[in-house]
Amino acid sequence: MNILSIESSCDETASAILSFDPKSPNTSIKLLSNVVVSQIDIFKAYGGVIPEVAARSHLEAILPVIDRAFSDAGFLTPEEKNNWEKIDAIAVTNTPGLLGSLLIGTLTARTLSILHNKPLYPVHHLKSHIYSAWLDKNDKGRENPPSFPLLSLVVSGGHTQIIRMPSDNKFEIIGTTLDDAVGECFDKVAKILGLPYPGGPSISKSALSGNPEKYPLPIPNIKDLDFSFSGLKTAVLHAVQKEVGVPISYPSHKLKNLLSPEQIADFSASFEKTAVEILIKKLKKALKIYPDTTSVVFAGGVSANETLRKTAEKTLKNLNVYFPPKKFSGDNAAMVAISVAHEISSGIKPADPRSVEILPRSSIA
Ligand SMILES: Nc1ncnc2c1ncn2[C@@H]1O[C@H](COP(=O)(O)OP(=O)(O)OP(=O)(O)O)[C@@H](O)[C@H]1O
Ligand SMILES: [Mg+2]
Repeated sequence: MNILSIESSCDETASAILSFDPKSPNTSIKLLSNVVVSQIDIFKAYGGVIPEVAARSHLEAILPVIDRAFSDAGFLTPEEKNNWEKIDAIAVTNTPGLLGSLLIGTLTARTLSILHNKPLYPVHHLKSHIYSAWLDKNDKGRENPPSFPLLSLVVSGGHTQIIRMPSDNKFEIIGTTLDDAVGECFDKVAKILGLPYPGGPSISKSALSGNPEKYPLPIPNIKDLDFSFSGLKTAVLHAVQKEVGVPISYPSHKLKNLLSPEQIADFSASFEKTAVEILIKKLKKALKIYPDTTSVVFAGGVSANETLRKTAEKTLKNLNVYFPPKKFSGDNAAMVAISVAHEISSGIKPADPRSVEILPRSSIA
């Protein structure tokens, strides 16, 4: 079977074609094309995503991106048109995300489904992030994929959740952030330090030459398996203000002019170390509560973080720990296709394309 997938929930327009055999979805998976057009360069100038601009960019990019997915997969007719006979199903992210962004991808998928008479599978974005860990770096299904029951730490620009999966396609949220997502915190701290958007990769790069012990930052005491990251962002702000000798009323956007490159590197390293410590501490607490866990899956944009990867591998030694290949950690359509491959092989039925809803907010469970 071949799945055409579409992703447009935030600021990446993406489409992929994935082939698989529903009887053995994992070993048979092959990614035939994977096209991602990122709007990062547009939003660098603003320091963050502007939803209306993102929606307009998706509108311009979506059809060329889908055409590219067909041509990269070699799915063209002799007349060089997209060969729809090769496609068996369409998968699309319909929730959660920015309303205007989701609208473009979902309406395109609904239209193509009706026009070409193909079954349509709407997918939850976090489900796709989790299943990205089933792909290997060679664009195939992993030989030894995660086993159930598993715990997934979804760490992205919009979410920070610990999700338990007792089995394939089943999700329970056991911990969540009460305020900011960890990726959002990386982005906001980067802004304070004058580092470019997106903050995660810039902080990581800057942290390489910094001292993680230079500025001790607090670990919030949040009950159960929940998280909070807004306090950490404020703690960085106040520590920077103290370091450069200005009052807490001093505007945060002017602080970057007062910091030396060495101070920026030390703040980056100290912040990154603390953010990772908060995540791993909660994950270890969750593992104590769920001792039957056999695998741990990290997912979402922040799962690309090297410090997080190294700390997880060091501290979770007795478990099978999975990270998506870095090219699949941010938003992409390969992960949308692989999560639908799991749905199809589990017998989950497609939706009526006329009634697929676009939901900016929704929970995976
Ligand atoms: N190496 C890294 N270290 C830390 N954070 C990173 C790294 N690379 C990317 N990020 C962060 O990942 C986030 C983007 O991830 P992703 O695209 O999965 O989020 P999103 O799609 O905006 O949110 P969601 O998936 O919750 O809807 C950004 O906040 C970015 O700063
Ligand atoms: Mg995402």
